[in-house]
Amino acid sequence: MKSVEVCLGSACHLRGADKIVQIFMQKMEEYQLNAKLYLKGSFCLGHCSDAVIVQIGNETLKNVTPENANVVFENKILPYLRGENNE
Ligand code: FES
Repeated sequence: MKSVEVCLGSACHLRGADKIVQIFMQKMEEYQLNAKLYLKGSFCLGHCSDAVIVQIGNETLKNVTPENANVVFENKILPYLRGENNE
């Protein structure tokens, strides 16, 4: 199963990491991806000034917000699950 990590460290938490997790979970439900994608929380990923950090395979996404989380899911996570970008 593929996994995506959302940083839940303090800087990311302050910028809405919990909300981003909720949005990603809603999208997983909508696209019926619960058996295909493992959404993980992580400790600080070392890019606090660019919070919120989301790790998708080899790609580290910076400045993810609750406002752009839907777009990130559609444009980054869905292609990753389809094998269209880095593992
Ligand atoms: S708290 Fe998220 S990168 Fe440091």
